Amino acid sequence: MENRRPKLRVDDLAHAKAEKRRLTMVTAYDWPTGALLDEAGVDIVLVGDSLGMVALGFSNTLPVTMDMMVHHCAAVARGVKSSFLVGDMPFMTYKVDIPTALRNAGRFLQEGNMEAVKVEGGVEVAPIIQKIVEAGIPVMGHIGLTPQSLHKLSGFKVQGRVPDEIKKLMEDAAALQEAGCFSLVLEAVPAEVGERLSRSVRIPAIGIGAGPQCDGQVLVFNDLVGLTTRKVPKFVKEYAKLRPLALDALKNFVGEVREGKFPGPDHCY
Ligand code: KIV
Repeated sequence: MENRRPKLRVDDLAHAKAEKRRLTMVTAYDWPTGALLDEAGVDIVLVGDSLGMVALGFSNTLPVTMDMMVHHCAAVARGVKSSFLVGDMPFMTYKVDIPTALRNAGRFLQEGNMEAVKVEGGVEVAPIIQKIVEAGIPVMGHIGLTPQSLHKLSGFKVQGRVPDEIKKLMEDAAALQEAGCFSLVLEAVPAEVGERLSRSVRIPAIGIGAGPQCDGQVLVFNDLVGLTTRKVPKFVKEYAKLRPLALDALKNFVGEVREGKFPGPDHCY
């Protein structure tokens, strides 16, 4: 008989911090990856807008649209039974005005079968988050290095290195909590800042490049399993190196077909 974990709900995630349970979150962009993460026991499957860079070949996340996200969210959701599902709202789909933000957040649940949305930003986005939460949609925040602001930040850089930036991050985290976020992502800050910030809020702070004292950790799937060709950031740990394995398999296939070795008798009807 199949031994399935219970379905994770937003309350389970919110309580994890008080219960000192560290949360795991990994990105997925398609059905088989969603199913794999679910089977592995990952708490939160994030359909990140990193989709643009990891799966669609863009050099940043700015070209990602609502239609792209909804399409990939629905595919991932078909593979997930127990993990909690979060969809990432793309650039210029929520900071424009509240009706636009509500309409787009709604699409993640109605068309993408997500259970929550993630938005980037702090104090400035708090009134929008409040409205999305009031509409019945759980929201995860995202501060520190926010890739949608890469031009404003002058590139993908570590944040929170000077006192003014740390003060701003603390204010942002407090604003997200007050606006009703059930958790937040903290990206690319020094480990001491990650610890201080995680301790300053009641909601779980899930770190990516924010040190070991956060309330959980998130990684991009393709980085975690070593499927990427780009140079990975320092905070990534490759738990496997799948790309060379896949490349070897493909080269073997190409060679065997060319030599007339595949298909052999075992693979013929
Ligand atoms: O888009 C994404 O994958 C993310 C995670 C890296 C947190 O925002």
